[in-house]
Amino acid sequence: MIYLDNAATTFPKPEIVYKTMDNFYRTLGANPGRSGHRMAVAAEKEVEDTRTVVARLFGIKDSKRLILTFNATDAINMGIKGLLKSGDHAITTFLEHNAVSRALNGLEKRNIITVTKVRNSPDGLINPDDIKNAITSKTRLIVISHAPNVLGTIQPIRKIGRIAREHNIIFMVDAAQTAGVCEINVDEDYVDMLAFTGHKGPLGPTGTGGLYVEERLTLEPWREGGTGFEPASLSQPEELPFKLESGTPNTVGIAGLRAGIEYVLSKGIGTIRAHEQRLTNKIIQALKDDQRFILYGTTDISQKVGILSINVKGFKAAEVGAILDQSFDIAVRPGLHCAPFAHQMIGTFPDGTVRISPGLFNTEEDVDLFIRALVKIANERI
Ligand SMILES: Cc1ncc(COP(=O)(O)O)c(C=O)c1O
Repeated sequence: MIYLDNAATTFPKPEIVYKTMDNFYRTLGANPGRSGHRMAVAAEKEVEDTRTVVARLFGIKDSKRLILTFNATDAINMGIKGLLKSGDHAITTFLEHNAVSRALNGLEKRNIITVTKVRNSPDGLINPDDIKNAITSKTRLIVISHAPNVLGTIQPIRKIGRIAREHNIIFMVDAAQTAGVCEINVDEDYVDMLAFTGHKGPLGPTGTGGLYVEERLTLEPWREGGTGFEPASLSQPEELPFKLESGTPNTVGIAGLRAGIEYVLSKGIGTIRAHEQRLTNKIIQALKDDQRFILYGTTDISQKVGILSINVKGFKAAEVGAILDQSFDIAVRPGLHCAPFAHQMIGTFPDGTVRISPGLFNTEEDVDLFIRALVKIANERI
């Protein structure tokens, strides 16, 4: 199969990720930080080593402020629900994944917060001035995806972060589509909360992710329970990461995440991004002037990660996805991509688009075969 669905999850993983996980679970599969025996201590060290490596990826100075979570959704909920209180106002965009939209909508529906959604340009870009103009005296949070998953447009997070800092508003970035493929530095980008998932760009397994929490922030725990110490207390410890990290962690996944990120760092984020951009751009150049296809968002590859949303005229997205899968053995993702508002913004609701997302392990040949398959599908309908 030609796998072009890396925005959903990267596949395959680097060999070292499989090997590390296999070895870890066979030799160090104890419950970290719980039992005090040597294997538990060694497992705990693995978790802390991963925390340090993730911190390196995002320029986080104090790795204790990095909470390991089960995915980006977990991290986003932890941040949003741990921060916002009754009467707060939040600013976001129409391009967000449901992880952000639903978390905010849930609070809004219960009359706890109010939300303003900022519109994007047809290219898929958010104008920082629009965010600035949406600020009210009640605004506590600005939350935005670094590169939304339908269009893949890279948003000007540093400019938005500076605006947030100037107004003493918390700035949260959903880096689900950029961690491991775009340079992110939480200090230089004025990020107060950074949510990421481990199974996409960081090349780790599913069930991993994290939330960075800036020093001046105190979050209420979203999940409460065992932390491995102070068991007699009925309250969560105040200390991070323990306050927010209850329950047995996904240790085998965390070991794999470290291996994935180390692989990314050894390859170089710039190299990985350049590869994904080259392949995506090849598809853009092949399709953009052909009237049989509609391309959504900017076609300027310097403004995008390796994500492209298209439609084939005369076909529903789901139909194209199914034909690619069944007749050509090519995996893409058709539909709404858990981002219904984004599709409303680009006029593709409710059928959505066909999203193609080449990854590090795709080749030029994969992309050539995909283009040929797509042209064949379009020709057959004429
Ligand atoms: C922009 C964005 N945010 C959040 C998520 C949620 O990630 P996860 O399903 O790993 O929690 C995704 C996943 O596709 C995403 O693309």
